[in-house]
Amino acid sequence: DATTGGTAAARPQWSSRLAFILAATGSAVGLGNIWKFPYITGENGGGAFVLVYLACIAVIGLPILAAEVLLGRRGGHSPIRSMAQLCRRDGASGGWAWVAWMGFVAAFVLLSFYSVVGGWSLAYIGHAARGAFAGANAEAIGGMFGGMLSSPGTLLLWHTVFMLMVVAIVGAGLRAGMERAINTLMPLLFVLLLVLVGYAMVRGDFGRGLEFLFAPDFSKLSTEGVLTALGHAFFTLSTGICVMMAYGSFLPKEVNVARTVVTIGVLDTLVALLAGLAIFPLVFANGLEPGAGPGLIFVTLPLAFGQMTGGVVFGTLFFALLLVAAITSAISMIEPVVEWLEDRGVARKLGALLSGSLIWALGICTVLSFNHWADFHPLGFLSRFEGKTLFDLFDFLVSNLALPLGGLTIALYAGWVMKADILREQIGLGDGAVFELFRFVLRFLSPAAVLVVFVYNLV
Ligand code: PHE
Ligand code: NA
Repeated sequence: DATTGGTAAARPQWSSRLAFILAATGSAVGLGNIWKFPYITGENGGGAFVLVYLACIAVIGLPILAAEVLLGRRGGHSPIRSMAQLCRRDGASGGWAWVAWMGFVAAFVLLSFYSVVGGWSLAYIGHAARGAFAGANAEAIGGMFGGMLSSPGTLLLWHTVFMLMVVAIVGAGLRAGMERAINTLMPLLFVLLLVLVGYAMVRGDFGRGLEFLFAPDFSKLSTEGVLTALGHAFFTLSTGICVMMAYGSFLPKEVNVARTVVTIGVLDTLVALLAGLAIFPLVFANGLEPGAGPGLIFVTLPLAFGQMTGGVVFGTLFFALLLVAAITSAISMIEPVVEWLEDRGVARKLGALLSGSLIWALGICTVLSFNHWADFHPLGFLSRFEGKTLFDLFDFLVSNLALPLGGLTIALYAGWVMKADILREQIGLGDGAVFELFRFVLRFLSPAAVLVVFVYNLV
């Protein structure tokens, strides 16, 4: 493949296993951990949901993440080129490569709206820092959130700033841009998180927060909750749309994929749980509702900060945490697009600028979905999509279709198409029962689980 691979020798690599772990954890830890995980946990009653979520991560999410990373490393190019070459090497139909195309489109669409939501964190850093929450009542705080959403100019401004940061980091290259940013941002993320958990311990109702997250009450768990947990397992691990395949393509050969992926999964889970421990004690201490849905951190939490000593400082830190988490995920989403352009000879800086601009432009659809186009429901004639805006459809397309379908395809490819010997050599689990179990999961268990979620989400 060296001959078909073009400039294989010139391709950069992560400088160490740790660099890859930080980058991949940066991708995994995002709005999914700090925004979505707490609110879906709140909506689904806490502890029992958390248990099911942990099982989904361990049994289905991690094996697929491992498969995605090792496919990326084996391919050594952009996901699209890697998959096409692997199909040839493995003697499989080139049709399998469609997973990389779908991932490409999905990552593009995902970043277009992720950036808008990431922009909210920028706006809220400002609100928190100037003390806008202090003493405000529920109506005022709700109005602040509603006011931001109803203003296209505000949303566009922060969306633009967010995308500029992403383009600047990715455009500077793997080591000088991404690694450097990640090496600063990830430690910062952990420090911020621990500081916020400490604040929740001192000022919040920590006991109730703990109980809410860790005492399982299975009567509160619905089938819908189980499927939400499984769906979120893909989203939170960034697996299924070839973003981790792109990151895996820079992974040095000697790194053990199995061990590395487990580390990433543990860190991602830890952050989600710690985010819960930073949020729920404050919610309970102020007599607020944990099940507020998407508004949990933008309405409920500011209300709590507004009533508490130190709320200005710690509120600001909270939204800074959200921003850091969002940025390190966003740079992973644009990466497959930039790599694809690089494969075609476009320089990285230009590639980042070009793809960033197109993604930014698509983001305008999301900006308008909250205001001028709020009543535009493109698929509204189907009952499944009644009342869904363009933004809702984008989210559905990525979270409910592309991620599970991509995960399914990756599992099937690694489990059925790749020869067992190659899989064994790439994954680094030895050649005993653990490897057999891993392969069994990829061949049967993950595909079955994904199909269930998938069918459920469609009907
Ligand atoms: N894992 C990220 C989060 O939890 C989202 C993401 C999904 C990033 C898919 C990249 C690819 O927020
Ligand atoms: Na995540």
